[in-house]
Amino acid sequence: MKAVITLAAALALSTASVSAFANAQLAKDKNCTACHAVGTKLIGPSFKDIAAKYKDDKAAKARLAKKVREGGTGVWGQVPMPANPQVNADESDKLVAWILDGAK
Ligand code: HEC
Repeated sequence: MKAVITLAAALALSTASVSAFANAQLAKDKNCTACHAVGTKLIGPSFKDIAAKYKDDKAAKARLAKKVREGGTGVWGQVPMPANPQVNADESDKLVAWILDGAK
């Protein structure tokens, strides 16, 4: 019994880290990391700052996913984020969910 539980926990852990890795890789593949880092402001705000800003905002996910695709400015300063037409709706949802969860 104990072995079964340990195995289940190990599987759950490895699944979680595989998907975190996949999201980080997606952010890299889609060029987000040219302007964003997890913990440091580059041209755009850090993913941790974005997560903190919207932690109580339930509507943020859909709004930010759209902004990732279409671009925008004026929330963090005057530097605009250009549109990211290389990102589809599914990918923008995935990326924003990962960012709002602290980009872990
Ligand atoms: C050319 C640089 C650049 C690239 C590439 C870029 N961003 Fe941004 N991003 C910015 C800037 C600048 C802002 C701040 C915009 C503002 O103040 O409204 C921003 C803001 C954001 C925000 C917060 C928006 C808000 O309204 O608070 C999210 C989420 C985000 N970016 C995700 C992404 C993702 C995901 C990608 C990759 C698909 C990406 N960004 C690619 C520059 C960039």
